[in-house]
Amino acid sequence: MSSIKAAITGIQAFAPEYILTNKELATTVDTTDEWITTRTGIKERHILKGKGLGTSDMAVEAIKGLLKNTNTLPEEIDLLICATITPDMAFPATANIISDKAGIKNAFSFDINAACSGFIYSLFTASKYIESGSFKKVIVVGADKMSSAVDYTDRQTCVIFGDGAGAVLLEPSANGNGIIDSILRTDGSGRIHLHQKAGGSVKPASYETVDNREHFVYQDGKAVFKFAVTNMADIAVEIMKKNHLTANDISWLVPHQANLRIIDATARRMGLDKDKVMINIQRYGNTTNATIPLCLWEWEDKLKKGDNIILSAFGGGFTWGAIYLKWAYD
Ligand code: UT7
Repeated sequence: MSSIKAAITGIQAFAPEYILTNKELATTVDTTDEWITTRTGIKERHILKGKGLGTSDMAVEAIKGLLKNTNTLPEEIDLLICATITPDMAFPATANIISDKAGIKNAFSFDINAACSGFIYSLFTASKYIESGSFKKVIVVGADKMSSAVDYTDRQTCVIFGDGAGAVLLEPSANGNGIIDSILRTDGSGRIHLHQKAGGSVKPASYETVDNREHFVYQDGKAVFKFAVTNMADIAVEIMKKNHLTANDISWLVPHQANLRIIDATARRMGLDKDKVMINIQRYGNTTNATIPLCLWEWEDKLKKGDNIILSAFGGGFTWGAIYLKWAYD
């Protein structure tokens, strides 16, 4: 195994200014603040407003801050991976657009589409490039403008999602800190429960698909919940066992923020007290690929070198996974 590990050496996130509250949503669909709060834990979410603005614009805001924080020039970046399911356009990759807008000229870049597990999939992928020894500075950005894919007449989905972006810089580390282990899983048969029906090669856009509102997120929430609550907890426990970690050894759980009940169940299965769990779903909702970096960014001041951190996610695909890392800086 490589002695070089990939360590997160900086983080920055971005949430658009406009805040859509439960109260405002209740004026447009048949819902209540009470239902949303008790069923999901969400109170408000940020929404990107402004014509011509997309996922790349939020990602660029996060990356500009990241480069500044870490005293890094855009030309020094070797690789940029963007985790998103709301790309600026079907092609080219949003990562290519981000690189252009952020002045990242000496890198290659690509997108990873793994829905809510995309940030974890991307972090794992980036870590392998670093461990190869050939890549010194890699950016992983998770970004989604979910408001572009959500049907604001469908109360089952529109209350859940929000917009945001978060980026990390990864660099080689030789002192044992960084990404230690990862477990990733896919079960494509789960696609029937969570997908976007039209706009792909099977069902290209037509007047009919638009009339049938098939370009929005379709989710059978109850079915997804069942798989999410089991698999996210199972994989978090699996990575603990594999690395001989007890709850006492873990400083933080950073769970994907899809539903407070799923987060609580995962923490309970791991035997973790709530004060070791990063939770900000109440202020952002489910920002898909941005949830985990938004948490790390908000908790950055509390993180200490050597902290044992578990990241865990579940999402459309189905995809799920967990990463065990040791934080690399104070
Ligand atoms: O992030 C990627 C993966 N996604 C997830 O992990 C999401 C997993 N699923 C969930 O988080 C939950 O299933 C939801 C939050 C989506 C829904 O919560 P639920 O407790 O599973 O509710 P439900 O779908 O079983 O609906 C219960 C009731 C239904 O009414 P009836 O049939 O019992 O009369 C729904 O029509 O709640 C109704 N309902 C609502 N009521 C008020 C559904 N959405 C709403 C709403 N406001 N927004």
